Amino acid sequence: MSDFASDDLPGEATSVWLASTREDDPDPDPLEGTRSVDVAVVGAGIAGLSTAIELRERDLTVAVLERDRVATGITGKTTAKLTSQHGTIYDHLRREFGPAQSSRYAAVQEEAIDRVEGRIDELGVDCGFERQPAYLYSNEPDEIEREVDAARAAGLEASYVTSVPPFERAQAAVRFDDQAWFHPRKYLLAVADELRADDGAHLHEETRVTDLEDGTPCFVRTESGTVRAKHVVLATGFPILDRAGYFARMHPKRSYVLGIRLDGDPPEGMYYRSGDPYRSVRTYRDDGEELLLVGGENHKTGQGGSTADRYRRLESWARERFPVDEVAYRWSTQDYKPVDKVPFIGRAGAGTENLSVATGFRGWGMTNGTAAGRLLAADIDGEPVPELDLFDPLRLTPKASLGKTLTENADTASEFVTDWFQTLVTPDLTALEPGEAKTVRKGGKPIACARDEDGELHAVSAVCTHMYCLVEWNDAEESWDCPCHGSRFDPDGEVLEGPANEDLPAREG
Ligand SMILES: Cc1cc2nc3c(=O)[nH]c(=O)nc-3n(C[C@H](O)[C@H](O)[C@H](O)COP(=O)(O)OP(=O)(O)OC[C@H]3O[C@@H](n4cnc5c(N)ncnc54)[C@H](O)[C@@H]3O)c2cc1C
Ligand code: FES
Repeated sequence: MSDFASDDLPGEATSVWLASTREDDPDPDPLEGTRSVDVAVVGAGIAGLSTAIELRERDLTVAVLERDRVATGITGKTTAKLTSQHGTIYDHLRREFGPAQSSRYAAVQEEAIDRVEGRIDELGVDCGFERQPAYLYSNEPDEIEREVDAARAAGLEASYVTSVPPFERAQAAVRFDDQAWFHPRKYLLAVADELRADDGAHLHEETRVTDLEDGTPCFVRTESGTVRAKHVVLATGFPILDRAGYFARMHPKRSYVLGIRLDGDPPEGMYYRSGDPYRSVRTYRDDGEELLLVGGENHKTGQGGSTADRYRRLESWARERFPVDEVAYRWSTQDYKPVDKVPFIGRAGAGTENLSVATGFRGWGMTNGTAAGRLLAADIDGEPVPELDLFDPLRLTPKASLGKTLTENADTASEFVTDWFQTLVTPDLTALEPGEAKTVRKGGKPIACARDEDGELHAVSAVCTHMYCLVEWNDAEESWDCPCHGSRFDPDGEVLEGPANEDLPAREG
């Protein structure tokens, strides 16, 4: 990729998960020609691969199609806490969905932790899985008390604590014991190897799905081949085919992570401070390396100013609290937040009997993505799955979602109008310095221009191919990001993240 490096940001720009996994990945085996299977799974992150392995355990044949390589999407850039503690979710669920659904959510998450542990044992994977306590801390004791009470009522062993050692200023916390952390990419590379060794499974990486025809059967098309399947699972983060208005019911939130070497030992346990700005902390241990992972600074993708400044704020926050030796890695990714805070797992839309989705994990996809695999495989195999009632993508939850839906969509509409208006009145500025990027107007059309460090100009249409909002420059990730539903493109217009599935066309700069 072109070099736009003009930053002074600390650390290598990659996640520790990607940096510490093998470079000799097996042949990607892109799909060529036609193949018929029971189920086609699109996306090889934690949701897609969990679904594929569960389907094989039920003896259904599977083809997994992945645009990039295994676990290089959101899952390759997570912080990988495997926990049932998802912010103040139980208080929310009890109020908005009722006690029974809150208990159901809790049981699904706990089962997912055990399931990952069981699979690690079964496959003999060395992926740093360790049981650890998880703390949700805050300076609002009332909020914490409510969450402890709701979590206990949901069947979890939650306790109220007033001392949170690394964070002396915290007044109260919810503690869940027996949670876990692990190395998600090592785990999923082992799952992928298991699929590759299995005659009933096919894993095709570097295979971008360009079109999907759902029906009986379904046809999943790529540039060089087609999979014919009785059922399709979309596990692509944002679904590449929107059959139920997902773009209006969930919103992309980008967050930032630093992998830090400390002068001393990093703490045991996992920590999360909800609110704004949220912070997430855990230790990483692997092959003699120990790092403190510090996450936070989330914002709606394509909005909120310099992304480079977010890394700087995260580093200052860590330096105030820990003896930082150096920042080894920095990375960023985004997840999708449903307006009512519950993931979408199940049949994708009305009249799409053979198409399922798994999305909207709200920053908690390690358990939710694992659970999606179990629930979807059972459903596709014809078993009744009562939990899918809670996660139903077609649910109507006006009490829990109406206010948020209206606010978020008003925000999207305002981004659409403001950006088009501003770009149309922007003077034609094509004289960019190396490392700079701008959207400009040329012949009335908005063009996204970025000049790399070698002086070469990269010019593409600034109109997002999803629903025509205008993209904004992301200075830390050097990408064009859409403020409406979070699609992202590289400086040459190639899709990095959906919902857009078509590249930005090249333009003359
Ligand atoms: C900063 C951050 C920290 C997080 N930390 C935690 C945590 O500590 N614990 C936790 O539980 N959760 C965490 N999460 C959330 C969790 O990482 C995600 O929910 C989860 O990884 C999502 O998995 P996925 O399989 O849905 O998506 P992905 O891993 O993105 O997989 C989707 C795959 O689909 C592929 N794809 C997309 N389009 C196509 C196409 N057209 N054709 C073929 N393939 C395609 C992509 O290349 C990608 O590999 C965090 C999220 C963020 C943003
Ligand atoms: S992501 Fe929807 S308009 Fe860009």
